[in-house]
Amino acid sequence: MSSQLPEHNEASLPPQEIIDLFKRTFDDELYGDEEEGLEALQVQIQEVKSHLYDRDYLGAFDNDSKRVAYCCRWSPARALGYAALFAHFEPVVDVLTCAEKEDQSVLCIGGGAGAELVAIASIFTPSRPFVSKYAKKAESESDNETTESLNVHLVDIADWESVTTRLLENIEKHWLYSNEFDSFKVKPEHKDILTMDSQALSLSKLNLITLLFTTNELFKENKAGSIRFLQQLNKNCSKGCLLLIVESAGSYSHITVGTKKFPLQFLIDTILCGKRGQENEGDWEVIAQADSSWYRCGGRLDYPIKLENMRVFYRLYRKKT
Ligand SMILES: C[S@@+](CC[C@H](N)C(=O)[O-])C[C@H]1O[C@@H](n2cnc3c(N)ncnc32)[C@H](O)[C@@H]1O
Repeated sequence: MSSQLPEHNEASLPPQEIIDLFKRTFDDELYGDEEEGLEALQVQIQEVKSHLYDRDYLGAFDNDSKRVAYCCRWSPARALGYAALFAHFEPVVDVLTCAEKEDQSVLCIGGGAGAELVAIASIFTPSRPFVSKYAKKAESESDNETTESLNVHLVDIADWESVTTRLLENIEKHWLYSNEFDSFKVKPEHKDILTMDSQALSLSKLNLITLLFTTNELFKENKAGSIRFLQQLNKNCSKGCLLLIVESAGSYSHITVGTKKFPLQFLIDTILCGKRGQENEGDWEVIAQADSSWYRCGGRLDYPIKLENMRVFYRLYRKKT
């Protein structure tokens, strides 16, 4: 049985606002003339699609036109789905809105393509008292004196810098404006997550880690490195840290360990939570999960490329110690 996420959760900006952010950012590519506009973009999208079909993930993102094409084609629908998913989990909303009135830090692994960034910004923005257009009514004058920041570290093996920069310019211009943009501290980093150490990732300071549509890729690239990386999370993340893993429902690859073949999710659960029957011994607990959850994009959204519905598998873990 599949569950369904609401099309819009009030903790985030409305879906059309999220889509408009992409329309504004990629105006030239989506609405430009014949040579530079949608037709040219569709050619690039086909090329990226064939790399993705061959599971050649590195080849899919190896130049700027392909990265922009990926972002225009896949990230808007993903951003809608991620905004709905993040908003569905109260502890995640608490992190993204700095509800505890303290700085919060998020690490998005494989988060260069913009969907996580825009989804996070779509939840952070309405929580800011100075963004009067969106702010929920402040209860008192003192509520306006927020100084806490949201730190967002986007680590990706592909170089998404120009895409991120363009999205951030528009997040500042249309959502957060200059007075609140300073508290949305985004650090894009072009690196292989599996080669970074716990200090470079500030693992002990993180409040939320996202691994969205990226786990299969990591394990395909480097199985032993991916296992070691999850073990680093066990060792270095602090109590209360959240870890959200999302993949396309039913797409989790199988993995061979010794002579046995497992669905990848079993291996991940075992590393994070402990062996079956001994889950209490693991470092993390599962606080929300679904094998199949739909996010359906509303039919009335205005975007020149089809926005695909998403059926996802998710697990939200919380560090116990
Ligand atoms: C299928 S895309 C998903 C993008 C995005 N998370 C989303 O959901 O739309 C996988 C992303 O993971 C990145 N990636 C793959 N291997 C990586 C690694 N070893 N370290 C960091 N990023 C990696 C890719 O460059 C790509 O941006």
